[in-house]
Amino acid sequence: MNVDLSESWAIGGVPIPTRLVLAPMAGVSVQAFRRQGRRYGAGLVCSEMVSVAGIAHRNERTLGYLRVASDEHPLAIQIFGSEPGAMAEAARMVEAAGADIVDINFGCPVKKVTKTGAGASLLDDPDQAARIVSAVAEATPLPVSVKMRRGTANGSRDCLVVGPRLVEAGAACLTLHPRSARQMYTGTADHSLTAELVELVDVPVIASGDVTSRARAQAVLATTGASAVMVGRAAQGNPWALAEIMGLATAEPTREEIVAELLLFMRETVRELGTERATGFLKKFYGWYLGRGRFPKPFKQELVTLPTLAEVETRLLAAAPGARDVLDRLEAELPEVDEVLLDSLPISLYGGG
Ligand SMILES: Cc1cc2nc3c(=O)[nH]c(=O)nc-3n(C[C@H](O)[C@H](O)[C@H](O)COP(=O)(O)O)c2cc1C
Repeated sequence: MNVDLSESWAIGGVPIPTRLVLAPMAGVSVQAFRRQGRRYGAGLVCSEMVSVAGIAHRNERTLGYLRVASDEHPLAIQIFGSEPGAMAEAARMVEAAGADIVDINFGCPVKKVTKTGAGASLLDDPDQAARIVSAVAEATPLPVSVKMRRGTANGSRDCLVVGPRLVEAGAACLTLHPRSARQMYTGTADHSLTAELVELVDVPVIASGDVTSRARAQAVLATTGASAVMVGRAAQGNPWALAEIMGLATAEPTREEIVAELLLFMRETVRELGTERATGFLKKFYGWYLGRGRFPKPFKQELVTLPTLAEVETRLLAAAPGARDVLDRLEAELPEVDEVLLDSLPISLYGGG
């Protein structure tokens, strides 16, 4: 049975136009990534995990993660923390920032996060996890979703116990990445657990993990009954994977298209992060865009050593001169960035003022 990926569905009252969701990824899911994801067929995009402690301290960089552009909707902003009260306050900030959905992270396996009682460690404390979801759901009228792992230990099935409790507490959607926290990203995602979770709850479930192609997306949707698939690593420097999954494209992009998308991504990232931060941030993207046999390895290595983005841009255009026309076309087609700036957040919440 083929599931139609172009079908719309909903989280709470929020309509999601396709069954493809772009994964939240720390250090990757900037606005430029999310807007690109929408252009290539994702029906829902998500911010990277945002620290509730950072929000509480009005940390400038943290607040930057709450920037929402008008063409990103529907958009989920993901928060992580361990205290219901602080999570509730952060949810109100997320709402004020203009997100459509508040997503809660119960999946992050990184020690720095789990040792504070946040992320995947909450799967070991279902009572506290439920208190958090309940506090967030009460704090905001936005639908609340939760993203989780199968459990912390290898072979754990805790998600099947915790998941239904979170729905009882007010979660309107669950995303399952069925690896254990201990596994990090090794092994494979066991989507038989996703199918079991779908049977247990009456809210939509999103399947995350190892979805890299249309065939795999169709198979996961058909065998799990999930409402949508989430795609992460396959979309890094490769929005064409999203188009392939949606059935919008089959051919590999041309070199000109690749360079044009990378240049657009660079320009948008500079606008978002400033030149200095963007210069370091972008380095990992060169390999992601130009890899996969698309450009010779020494070329990627050379780009990483160039000191300025202007030099990278010149070098890219020399390698694919036709990219300039493609880039002009892409820029002309982009909607105006009518950005909801942080200034529009309640002043008492922003900057401690
Ligand atoms: C670099 C990186 C950063 C990630 N950051 C987050 C995050 O901030 N929040 C989250 O819920 N999951 C995060 N994840 C997990 C992904 O959202 C996704 O569940 C996981 O990568 C499995 O999907 P994939 O096989 O499609 O990549 C991250 C994954 C990667 C590779």
